[in-house]
Amino acid sequence: MKIEKIQQTDLRNQELKLFKLTNPNGTIINITNIGATITSIKTKDRNGKLSETVLGFDKPEEYLSERYLKNCVYFGATVGRFANRIAKGKFELNGKTYKLNQNNGHHHLHGGPNGFHQKVWDARIEETDAGQALVMNLTSPDKEEGYPGNLEVEVRFFLSNENELIIDYHAKSDAPTPVNLTNHSYFNLSGKDTDILDHEVMIFSDEYTPKQDDVPIGDIVPTKDTPFDFQEFHKVGERLNHLPREGYDHNLVINGDEGDLRRAAVVKDPHSGRILEVYTTMPGMQFYTGYFLDGSFGNSEKKFGPFSGMCFETQYFPDSPNHPAFPSSIVTPENPFIHTTVFKFNAE
Ligand code: BGC
Repeated sequence: MKIEKIQQTDLRNQELKLFKLTNPNGTIINITNIGATITSIKTKDRNGKLSETVLGFDKPEEYLSERYLKNCVYFGATVGRFANRIAKGKFELNGKTYKLNQNNGHHHLHGGPNGFHQKVWDARIEETDAGQALVMNLTSPDKEEGYPGNLEVEVRFFLSNENELIIDYHAKSDAPTPVNLTNHSYFNLSGKDTDILDHEVMIFSDEYTPKQDDVPIGDIVPTKDTPFDFQEFHKVGERLNHLPREGYDHNLVINGDEGDLRRAAVVKDPHSGRILEVYTTMPGMQFYTGYFLDGSFGNSEKKFGPFSGMCFETQYFPDSPNHPAFPSSIVTPENPFIHTTVFKFNAE
């Protein structure tokens, strides 16, 4: 695996960088230090043709445009300090109430209006025994967006020779604080300007967290006999008429134990033969099928409309700081955030 810096632009005293990760199989991944964002993943289809499999902009600067940031789309971004919603931007910790900035109606979404997705991260290429890794660092000061504690965040990206993009997250705080870091890539394995409704998905989950007003009500219920049962392959579009108009935008509880790297999902595009497998150490995963993309963004290849990509956001359950029965997302000085998510690509 090889990593090179392929672009650097200076903007308001900040260095915007773009890196290219390649392996001997021909997989090419681009990552910018703006929001530690994956801008491109090119993988081979069953005939060896290399195409784009995520939604992203042509130029890194576009990830900082005001119009984009207002829209809360998060293409490929590292999302934090807390991915997904915290109800009404409020939570209690050790007897104290914390108020967070609200940016999604009355909720706090994906770390708030100045979340990690729009920070310019420090970035370096590190030599390791296994090969080169791309390492990104960020400091989130105490009270940023309303969160307690100074948080030091590190995200490491590693592309293996087996076509695995391994993302290791590490975050350390000097005071107790909720932390939920995820990657918000929108995948479309077709490599074409088509939607993802034909993609076939399997998710290793027996339970999900029903929601109301976009946040979990607190229950954990079986997926059996619901449109959230993906124990066998189902097309994304197959059961949409049993769901609200936005389709899938739900947290599924991933079977097995938090901390164990286990398979969370398999996705197949029957046309190109491309396959994506998702592995994670996290307890949950937001399965979001991109309904809110409205076509106002795109790149030189296509416009990103509803269902043009789907996200597998490995995570603590949304709003978990307000649900003591959910796995705890609280990081303390003694207990840092240490998690791994792997996106593995193949074709058949
Ligand atoms: C959320 C969606 C939201 C999307 C983009 C997803 O993680 O679950 O509700 O629209 O991110 O912000």
